[in-house]
Amino acid sequence: MTKTKESWGSRIGLILAMAGNAVGLGNFLRFPVQAVQNGGGAFIIPYLVCFLLMGIPLLFIEWSSGRYGGRFGNHSTPYILDTMTKGRVLKYIGVFGIFTNIAVAAYYAYIESWTMSYVVHSLKGTFSGMDQSQVADFFLSYTDVLHSTTGIPFEAVIFYILCLAINVYVLSKGLGGVEKVAKIGMPLLIIFGVILAVRGLTLGTSGASEIFPDANAWDGLNFLWTPQYESILDLKVWMAAAGQIFFTLSVGMGTVHCYAAYVKSKDDIALNAVSAGFMNEFIEVVIGSSIVIPIAAGYLGMDWVMENAGFGMAFQTMPYLFQQWGPVFAAIAGVMWFGLLFFSGITSSLAMGTPCVSFMQDEFGWNRKKGAWAFGLVTLIMGLPTVFFFGEGVFDEYDYWAGTVSLVVFAMMETILFSWVFGLNKGWREITMGADIKVPGIYRYIIKYITPVILIVVFLGTVFAPKANDWSGNIRSLFSGNGWPLDNMSIINKITNVGLRQQLADATDPEQIRVLQDNLFAVNMARGFLSALLLFILILIYVSYKKRVREGRVTSV
Ligand code: ALA
Repeated sequence: MTKTKESWGSRIGLILAMAGNAVGLGNFLRFPVQAVQNGGGAFIIPYLVCFLLMGIPLLFIEWSSGRYGGRFGNHSTPYILDTMTKGRVLKYIGVFGIFTNIAVAAYYAYIESWTMSYVVHSLKGTFSGMDQSQVADFFLSYTDVLHSTTGIPFEAVIFYILCLAINVYVLSKGLGGVEKVAKIGMPLLIIFGVILAVRGLTLGTSGASEIFPDANAWDGLNFLWTPQYESILDLKVWMAAAGQIFFTLSVGMGTVHCYAAYVKSKDDIALNAVSAGFMNEFIEVVIGSSIVIPIAAGYLGMDWVMENAGFGMAFQTMPYLFQQWGPVFAAIAGVMWFGLLFFSGITSSLAMGTPCVSFMQDEFGWNRKKGAWAFGLVTLIMGLPTVFFFGEGVFDEYDYWAGTVSLVVFAMMETILFSWVFGLNKGWREITMGADIKVPGIYRYIIKYITPVILIVVFLGTVFAPKANDWSGNIRSLFSGNGWPLDNMSIINKITNVGLRQQLADATDPEQIRVLQDNLFAVNMARGFLSALLLFILILIYVSYKKRVREGRVTSV
């Protein structure tokens, strides 16, 4: 058993670190886009239902599993599962608790590094005087690393390495370092967020231009907040809502396991889990929805937002819109916007680094510093392809397999293990032990029956996603004997690259064919890197297990 006696310095530090783990780029960049793309008010009901029936149960499961493993000196998912299930094989399922974190950190830290660079550019006034398309082009040039003309050569690579170095430095300071960043970063990001949201909400029609005379910031909010009950029947919206809940709460990743493993064995986890979860929701739903969409709707109109809603808006549009506030406030708004993104990002990427550091510490006796450097190095190796081949699709491929599929697969398996192998009676005892709130008894049934069913449905929905996400169309097609046409984003079509191959077969222009071939190469390379990482961690688990056997410390309860 490990000699690690490390634990969180204070309850507020723990809650802020856990909330920081959850609050991330997903809250500000992914949520608004998902909401707009899924019909605004249509999205919010499935989203909240998924939060209550899937998010909260997974938080309970992961917090309690983590604290349970920590009691036996295990702080990483493989051995937390090993302690809980005593199954020789089951610890290998815990590979996701390290793999997903490194793979997501690899591309996540890249976005984080953009935010750092954009803070600098906002301060330098790089965007002043640029029109909308010039600001958008700046981003394209920035991410086209080899041909970038944005400033210093290889700027994106330099900021990426710098960003990873900051993460490594904080991780090497242990939980104390993580707590300190959370205590500074979380309040600051809330303050910045509130200032920008108030500015957005008070914009009204003041930004309306000649091109978009009807622009109105309130249209953005109305669109997001007018419930549309018919969406309840649209499975596409449910799948998107479930995906957002996974990503935003960082469940199905292993970060919560790891952080919770450092909670003292009799301390509360129920209230802590709910507090961190609700803090994330407040920041996502209230602040996250009050910045990009209303400001963009205020200047460019809601029609523009619906047509252009995408991840790039934050970098390609916001710096231009801030210019409408005059040079001084544009710089301040830029620093606040990209600063809040940076703080939200780093508190999440630190959580992604901790499982790797803890695993090496527990299993191989490494100190935090060595573990942190190892994390930084592996993440850099994994991340450089996303930096150099961003435009070719490596980034999206990582996001698909690590940031989407892995979360669903692991969440499904851990929920079944918790409720049916570890056993809900023991599980419930763990959830309620030391609890500072009375956990509603209904969650016993939700965790045992409803959450696993939802997760199985979401998993199957990812494997067999219907063409164009048209669930009702596919169900009709199935019943009329025309089969179940798959979407190119379904796992089955994705594995076989159906989409890209179709595009290649249809392409006639040699330039287009070359681009598609590059994409195919990049996608396969991304999968090679991801598979190698998965295999490498599986081998490490195997070696660590052999080591435990040799040392006579095979986990048993
Ligand atoms: N939960 C983190 C986010 O939302 C990963 O970005």
